[in-house]
Amino acid sequence: MRQVYVNGDYKREDEAKVSIFDRGLLFSDSIYEVTSVINGKLIDFNHHMKRLDRSMKELNFKKLLNHKEILVFHRKLIELNHLQEGMIYLQVTRGVADRSFDMPKNEIEPTVFAFTQEKKIIDSEGAKNGIKIMTVDDMRWKRCDIKTTQLLYSSMVKTQATSKGFDDAWMIRQGYITEGSSNNVWIIKGKIIMTRHADNLILSGITRDAIFKCAKDLGYEVVTKNISQQDAQSAHEAFVTSATAFVMPVVKINSNQIGDGKPGKFTLALRAEYIKQAIENSI
Ligand code: PDD
Repeated sequence: MRQVYVNGDYKREDEAKVSIFDRGLLFSDSIYEVTSVINGKLIDFNHHMKRLDRSMKELNFKKLLNHKEILVFHRKLIELNHLQEGMIYLQVTRGVADRSFDMPKNEIEPTVFAFTQEKKIIDSEGAKNGIKIMTVDDMRWKRCDIKTTQLLYSSMVKTQATSKGFDDAWMIRQGYITEGSSNNVWIIKGKIIMTRHADNLILSGITRDAIFKCAKDLGYEVVTKNISQQDAQSAHEAFVTSATAFVMPVVKINSNQIGDGKPGKFTLALRAEYIKQAIENSI
């Protein structure tokens, strides 16, 4: 049985409670962060906290949270649950109020909770064999840059993909790939690594940012550009990035095999470099 964190307290997971009037529950008026844990240490925690602040500001949450306090309960959850490898999920909702589309004018206390989840990140199946992608229409709202818990469409397309024998879905808006159901998209042609520019139609990934640095350190060229389905299907390599996937090779897009159907060499080099730097900088 896990120990979880809710509004300042540590509780057994079956005893943790939030109100049915919570705006996170009623309106998805809430944001979240997922921070990975390797060897019991947090990966890229400070960048996740910066993005948390940004999401809260974009939704006009009245006051920001203290990062030191968040670090304390993240570390405590790792300790209480003996977490070696996996992630910590943190959610912050606007708080509890009578149901109304009009957001509360006065300051209300946010609801803050977090829990651990074990996951094999380094030695995952996907990293070894690569994953298969199906493309779908991107029918989400146009503020995908905010990490809200409004994730139903992403969950629907992931489910649609897995039920058809794929591992994940990439979404397409106006002819170009935006992102995966819960990750950023990259392709490689020749020696050029490409990813879409970060605007309001994608979440600007913390792992994505780190990959720009890893690529530079390895002497690879990265360009930000719009990627069509055709570009992706004819790529030499492809991969996705996220806090819980790190760098995940893609070996098939729809019915098209990518490269020789095995994880590509640049992709694997980037994955190794990312893991090295992430562990070195973990806290
Ligand atoms: N998802 N795009 C979307 C839509 C995402 O949900 C995520 C992360 C990313 C990658 O961001 P980062 O590198 O900061 O993890 C991009 C997390 C892992 C999740 O929802 O579980």
